[in-house]
Amino acid sequence: MLETLAPKAPDPLLKIIKMFREDPRPDKIDLGVGVYKDAGGNTPVMRAVKDAEALLLATQKTKTYVGQQGDVDFLKLVGQLAFGEMTRDFVSIQAVGGTGALRLGCDLLRESGASRIVLPQPCWPNHPSIVRAARLEAVDVPFFDMAQQLINMDALIAGFAGAARGDAVILQACCHNPLGADFSIDQWRTLADALNERGLIPFVDLAYQGFGDGIDEDVAGARTLLEGVPEAVIAVSEAKSFGIYRERVGALYVKTAEKSRAAVMSNLATIARANYSMPPDHGAAIVREVLADAALRASWRSELDDIRAHIKRTRTALAAERVNSIPMHLIAAQKGMFSTLPLDGVQVTTLRERHGVYMTDSARINVAGLREADIPRFVEALRAVA
Ligand code: LMR
Repeated sequence: MLETLAPKAPDPLLKIIKMFREDPRPDKIDLGVGVYKDAGGNTPVMRAVKDAEALLLATQKTKTYVGQQGDVDFLKLVGQLAFGEMTRDFVSIQAVGGTGALRLGCDLLRESGASRIVLPQPCWPNHPSIVRAARLEAVDVPFFDMAQQLINMDALIAGFAGAARGDAVILQACCHNPLGADFSIDQWRTLADALNERGLIPFVDLAYQGFGDGIDEDVAGARTLLEGVPEAVIAVSEAKSFGIYRERVGALYVKTAEKSRAAVMSNLATIARANYSMPPDHGAAIVREVLADAALRASWRSELDDIRAHIKRTRTALAAERVNSIPMHLIAAQKGMFSTLPLDGVQVTTLRERHGVYMTDSARINVAGLREADIPRFVEALRAVA
């Protein structure tokens, strides 16, 4: 039976990770997967995370299940961090990473009768796979002018016509992956009006809180949207903000009318139960300990401030360079880990093969992974191809 299976194409991002690992050149540059690296090229465990783990090791008394909803204190603290007091009324459930939260959200939407999810393109390359795995149709809507590096709101809103009432639109809260281009507060307001007019549900993806302008600044736009709509689904990942990528820490929040909340919760519990039954504990427990303790929280915030400052320095340094056809100066205004350069497939392949510079096939660069020492060589390689 299994011999009938046809092989699948490798995931485009995981393919780049593998190619980079197998490249023997010592001076290769990895701008592929979205992982923060310090000046030495390492992705360290944050101090507050280490301290929280020590605390857990010393005090944890049981490894029994945490329960269907997950760690409720974690959910409360993460909800407050992301959306403030309004999260008191949100339904919430712990998830297996941000990806797991997105999948739970898609399954919930499908269960509620949605058939489509609008994906403003380019999107995170895993979004379409998650949407389709939940048996929803992905409706691609172009919303970005790559040459000008500008969001085109008219094109995005015109694209909402491809969806029907009850369908959803995935919107990234901040530090857009792969563009680094975020909506302004006014644009978030415009989006809320357009969604309400068409009866579409915003599905907010928040994965980089604190990597753009600050913990509160990065969610100001999404909060504006959430205040202006009756229903919303929100996937949160703490992988990047706490540097705990492999712990798979995520959560799903749902804004809905009080009368619908019990049904939403029971649907989410049923979906989770049939998938992974109950969520893992360790990563969520770390986040809970850090956010609940004033000293650990202050330590985490200060290290996150340093990470953000480092990313901004790299952006400023890149923006000061001149590279023929690439509008490098715009990199400084973009936020978070990623930017996408206006390069074609041939240029990306040449960078990889001839210069040992790895980025995704769509020319996304992980700015947060670029070491200061590698900037001159990276820019030279760009000049050689662009
Ligand atoms: C990325 O986009 O690089 C990260 O979110 C990692 C992933 O799983 O794709």
